[in-house]
Amino acid sequence: MAIHTENIIVEKTKASRINSVDFSNLNFGSVFSDHMFVCDYEDGKWQTPKIVPYQPITLEPSAKIFHYGQSIFEGMKAYKDEEGSVFLFRPMDNIKRMNISAKRLAMPEIPEAYFMDGLKELLKVEKDWIPSAKGSALYIRPFMFATGKGFHASPADSYKFIIACAPSGAYFSGKVKVLIEEHYSRSANGGVGFAKAGGNYAGQFYPTQLAKDKGYQQVIWTDDNTHEYIEEAGAMNIFVRINDTLLTVPTSDRILDGITRKSILAIAEAEGITTEVRKIKVSELIEASENGSLKELFGAGTAAVISPISGFGYKNKDYELPELENTYGELLKKRITDIQTNQTDDAFGWRVKV
Ligand code: PLP
Ligand code: COI
Repeated sequence: MAIHTENIIVEKTKASRINSVDFSNLNFGSVFSDHMFVCDYEDGKWQTPKIVPYQPITLEPSAKIFHYGQSIFEGMKAYKDEEGSVFLFRPMDNIKRMNISAKRLAMPEIPEAYFMDGLKELLKVEKDWIPSAKGSALYIRPFMFATGKGFHASPADSYKFIIACAPSGAYFSGKVKVLIEEHYSRSANGGVGFAKAGGNYAGQFYPTQLAKDKGYQQVIWTDDNTHEYIEEAGAMNIFVRINDTLLTVPTSDRILDGITRKSILAIAEAEGITTEVRKIKVSELIEASENGSLKELFGAGTAAVISPISGFGYKNKDYELPELENTYGELLKKRITDIQTNQTDDAFGWRVKV
C-alpha cells in the first residue's frame, strides 16, 4: 500500500512555539515540536495521513487503549550537521521493530511507506526544531494505540498512529548507579518483553521507584526464572567490559533487540575490540568486580546513547566501577555519534539523509 508525500494533508500551525524554547538548555522529551504526523486505521485500512499542529486527542472512555493496553511505540532521533543537513539513523530497523511489536499486540502493521514518507515529510516541516548542538537531537516518538471502543476484552477495530517530536538533550545527566533486581521481573518467556509495548514500561515503574528510594537511578533486570542472569535496563541494553573483552547478553523474547546495541557491537568489532554475546551471571559480575577484572558497565539505547554506570547494588551490597581513562564507552559513544551526526564516513551504510 504505497503512499506518496503529495497525499499527506498538511495543516500548518498559525502560531509556532519555537521561540519559547531554550535550545541551549534542553531536557529529554519535555517540549514538543509544532506538528505531528497522524494516521488512523479504520474499516480495515489505513486512512489518509495528515500532518497537523501538535494538539490533544479526544477518545471514547471505552477506547481499548484505556482498558486492555494495546499501545506500542518506537524511539528514534533526527540529527542536524553543521551544514544544516538532516539525518536519521537506521530508520528501517525502527519501522520493522514497530511492526514486530504491532503483530505481538494484535495490532495492524503500518505500511513501511506510511511510516517513512510520513516521517520524512514531518521532518521537513519541523526542520527548525532539530537541534544541532553536540549531545542534542530531535527525539522522534512514533506510537500507535487502540482507539476502538468496547469493554469486550479483544483487539480493537480502530487505531491511531502518531509521530510526535521533542528536541532533546541527554536522557541521564552524569553517571548512573543501578540496582540488580532480585525479585521483580520486566518480562517472561513467551511474553512481550521483546516488543516496545507501553505496558512493559508501566510494569517497571514501581520496582524502579523502590530502587530510586534506595539511591539507584535504574534497575538492571534479571531473568524471571532464576534472577541469576542480567538482561537489560529499563530503557537500555547493557554492556560489560571484563578485562579487554566487551560483552553483552543475547536478545531473546524477554529482551528488546536494541538498534544501538547491535550498532555498538559492529563498531566495536571494527575497532578491533573483542566482543562476546553470551549470558552473563550476576555472580560473574560480582566476582569480576572483586578481582578487578570488571572494567566498565554501560547502557546503550537511542535516548540514553551510551550511559556509563558508576556502580551497582546487589543483595544490600554496593560494588563500585573503577574510574578509567580512555574507556570503551567513551570511544564507542564518539564513534556512533560521529556517524549519526555526519562527522565521519558511514562505512556501515546506516545514515539516511532526509
Ligand atoms: N531496551 C529497552 C527496554 C528500551 O526501551 C530501549 C530503548 O529503545 C533499548 C533497550 C534500546 O533500544 P534502541 O537502541 O533501539 O533504542
Ligand atoms: C529510546 O531509547 O528511544 C526509548 O524508547 C527509551 C524510552 C523509554 C525513553
